[in-house]
Amino acid sequence: MRALAVVNCRQLVTLAGPARPRVREELKQLAIVRDGALLIRDGSIEQTGARADLERKIGPEYDMVDAGGRVVMPGFVDAHTHPVFAGNRVDEYEQRAGGATYEQIAAAGGGIRSTVRKTRAASEDELFDSAQRRSEWFLRTGTTMIEAKSGYGLSLESELKMLRTIRRLNEAGPLQYVPTFLGAHEVPDEYRGRTDEYAQIVMNEMLPKVAQEKLAEYCDVFCEPEIFDASAATRILSAARRWGLGIRIHADQLSRSGGGEVAAAVGATTADHLEHIDEAGIQALHSAGVQPVALPGSVYALGLKQFAPARSMIDTGLAIVLATDFNPGSSPTPSIPFVLSLAGTHMHMTPAEAVTATTINAAYSVGRGARLGSLEPGKQADFVIHDCEDYREIAYFTGIEPAFETYIRGERVYSRQ
Ligand code: NIG
Ligand code: FE
Repeated sequence: MRALAVVNCRQLVTLAGPARPRVREELKQLAIVRDGALLIRDGSIEQTGARADLERKIGPEYDMVDAGGRVVMPGFVDAHTHPVFAGNRVDEYEQRAGGATYEQIAAAGGGIRSTVRKTRAASEDELFDSAQRRSEWFLRTGTTMIEAKSGYGLSLESELKMLRTIRRLNEAGPLQYVPTFLGAHEVPDEYRGRTDEYAQIVMNEMLPKVAQEKLAEYCDVFCEPEIFDASAATRILSAARRWGLGIRIHADQLSRSGGGEVAAAVGATTADHLEHIDEAGIQALHSAGVQPVALPGSVYALGLKQFAPARSMIDTGLAIVLATDFNPGSSPTPSIPFVLSLAGTHMHMTPAEAVTATTINAAYSVGRGARLGSLEPGKQADFVIHDCEDYREIAYFTGIEPAFETYIRGERVYSRQ
């Protein structure tokens, strides 16, 4: 593979720094090089620096990319998505516009269960094709890797179908996927009122097969009193740990479910949503070294008011992550730039903090911190040229997509032209 030199970067946002998730003041330190250049060889970053210093190293073997005075930064890592599903839920969107709530629609058989019915009826090829079309949406918004959950199958066969689809999507590329098993996303129609029995199926039938076939790196549970309460979530996630999976959890989203404490008790990597977490819950996450993943896109799309308390998480020293929660119901956006905007307008996070939360911190939260999330020598060359002069514009202008070109392993995978 040839070498590549990216020059004329008005701001080269490297996020170079300690080899661990960033906390407190570190969240604001983006290690920006003005008029920077980026040298790449065999898909990895060889060197970064000021153009003046690197220019004489650029020999004839380098292909040149002129960034045109734009901003260059790492590809976004979206650490929480549900990208494989059939159909969509525009009808429910219309009902919510008329005043129905997400919970009312779910109780009447809609919500997650309506996507489950459609996803069960779809073939693996249909799921692959529709997700592959949507994968372009991520690349064009500057995302190069997504964590992807199952959870619209809710039977052994359909959960395996979803996870095999995610595996195929990752092999096909160019978007990169980290697979998570979410068999405990909801209680399916045929087990209504028999949550414990369904949890047994998840633990005794699904988990062993998922682990043996190495179809997932993480296991997740939707922890809510009406769905899987704290004790059911603890049982399922403890079983997943015994199978060697990492742990993530939908916690304290619609109510104070105690999911934060469950995350701490089972040694989760992340606790996600957390709109209703309190100070005690934040302290529990801190003591156990759990990364919070805030998902403001779902608060926005459900028309709610209460966002995750990002400031107190940061003040406590948590290594915060922001993600889209892309899914057909509660968060139909794949756009991290939109999430950066919501973080600024509703969570009092600065653009720098939000960028750290969607790059290096997000990469650590999916077990890829040593390879992704910053532009440093030896790391994979996943980067984006954004069509602006100052990285803060990405969080400021909304309704436009700033990505100009997206690269994965030094290969261009999206171009606006
Ligand atoms: O993260 N909270 C549960 N799961 C998704 C919603 C998925 C759906 O509505 O289809 C979420 O918001
Ligand atoms: Fe989710």
